[in-house]
Amino acid sequence: MTGEPRPGFRSEIVEGFGGGREDDGSFDATARIVDPGGADDERAVEVALRPRRLSEFPGQPRVRDQLGLVLEAARRRGSVPDHVLLSGPPGLGKTTLAMIVAAELERPIRVTSGPAIQHAGDLASVLSSLVEGEVLFLDEIHRMSRTAEEMLYLAMEDFRVDIIVGKGPGATAIPLELPPFTVVGATTRAGLLPAPLRDRFGFTGHLDFYDVADLEAILVRSAGLLALTADDEALTEIAGRSRGTPRIANRLLRRVRDWAQVHGDGTVTCDAARAALALFDVGLVALGDRALTTDVVENRGA
Ligand SMILES: Nc1ncnc2c1ncn2[C@@H]1O[C@H](COP(=O)(O)OP(=O)(O)OP(=O)(O)O)[C@@H](O)[C@H]1O
Ligand SMILES: [Mg+2]
Repeated sequence: MTGEPRPGFRSEIVEGFGGGREDDGSFDATARIVDPGGADDERAVEVALRPRRLSEFPGQPRVRDQLGLVLEAARRRGSVPDHVLLSGPPGLGKTTLAMIVAAELERPIRVTSGPAIQHAGDLASVLSSLVEGEVLFLDEIHRMSRTAEEMLYLAMEDFRVDIIVGKGPGATAIPLELPPFTVVGATTRAGLLPAPLRDRFGFTGHLDFYDVADLEAILVRSAGLLALTADDEALTEIAGRSRGTPRIANRLLRRVRDWAQVHGDGTVTCDAARAALALFDVGLVALGDRALTTDVVENRGA
């Protein structure tokens, strides 16, 4: 046990990241953690559009206020906050909030994900290299292996892991004390988490779909960051077609920008929005359920 992540093990200290590109250039749609460099332009833009602080995070007022309180109280006590679980559908801001937790605490963040932790040893190597107060972001936490989960309970509760040395009857467990740290877990499937693991989180925030006004606020901010000139009605149109999801709103904004740059003077107008959204068939299944519509939008790469 060197405390270093194994080769190929995706664990990074990053400021922001996209998701899914492997070392060999292939794309793993199930992976969330990738090189922080962001080779893919679209993903790099997505990262650039992430709010960095709670005060810049529109929407989810309840979760934002609750999380703000938990973090501020910990800061005043000079201790690490309780472990935080963030649940909710894709694209609503779980990863963004995890990054914000670290930023608000002014602590480093270590990023890994359930699928990357298939053995208890994978988790042990991450845990044993944490520094005091560090935020450990476990994305897709419901996909961690059972043995790793059991190790995580102990680590979260007692800040301790048992490192098993040797095999069979001669194996011994060497207890290793860990510095206090905060786990931020994210999951789209909170129901799949075993109760003992769920219970170890002192705060659970459930993210829900955004209303149109919040999506508009997000789009105004994104348009500013992308240096776009945009009409209010155009942003309202895009917000209304985004299925309550900021990731979709930002993607649609970029497609409308593309249309406006090719067919107009680059200004995001209502006409540009309608034409671009029609081109990408956004809204065709507007009366269908959100998940279906989201799939259509995502699969068409809009
Ligand atoms: N409240 C918000 N304000 C502004 N932008 C947001 C907000 N929430 C999410 N976004 C944007 O949407 C993108 C997707 O958010 P994020 O990656 O945090 O979602 P997620 O819940 O982690 O999704 P997944 O389950 O797919 O991992 C971000 O890159 C960010 O640009
Ligand atoms: Mg995420």
